Amino acid sequence: MSSFAPFTPDLFAAHEDAFLAIAADQPHEYWRAEHFLAERPGKWRLSFAAMAQPEAVPIGYAILSQPEPARVHLHHFMLRADRRGHGLGTRMLDECVRRARAAGASDLTLKIDRAAPRARAFYARAGFVEADDGAPYLGARLSLDAR
Ligand SMILES: CC(C)(COP(=O)(O)OP(=O)(O)OC[C@H]1O[C@@H](n2cnc3c(N)ncnc32)[C@H](O)[C@@H]1OP(=O)(O)O)[C@@H](O)C(=O)NCCC(=O)NCCS
Repeated sequence: MSSFAPFTPDLFAAHEDAFLAIAADQPHEYWRAEHFLAERPGKWRLSFAAMAQPEAVPIGYAILSQPEPARVHLHHFMLRADRRGHGLGTRMLDECVRRARAAGASDLTLKIDRAAPRARAFYARAGFVEADDGAPYLGARLSLDAR
């Protein structure tokens, strides 16, 4: 069982080790406390954590911001390794879309590691369109008006 909780500085402080351990298996992961806590427009209103229930420990997160009124950006999206592949990531992405729409945005954007084929397939299935400008990370965009 899991539920979504607003991602706030207080929630991060209460579970810092658990949040930092979620991506422990990811070879290129670099997020530290300063990244989780960096101020971004709309971040504390939009971001959320997936909490295991009844344990009430974080098992995933979606860190979002609204850099401009028409666009919500998904900065970081991760599930603990033992929770992947059971549909929770799809539910979390649906929640990102719901929150971006509620914030009045017309686009949800993110960057994808081009060497992560399963993650790229996951976002493509959800309707994201990649734009390859040659940068190490691929930009991808989901039009919220079209869905
Ligand atoms: C990407 C991720 C959030 C998806 O959540 P999930 O609950 O595993 O996904 P679902 O069960 O809803 O959907 C299954 C799809 O997710 C993707 N997926 C599953 N396990 C994955 C993994 N270990 N790594 C990357 N993508 C994975 C695949 O596309 C999979 O489809 P497939 O089984 O046909 O290959 C999650 O797997 C994860 O945190 N992966 C590692 C970190 C990552 O790649 N983050 C996104 C890049 S910022």
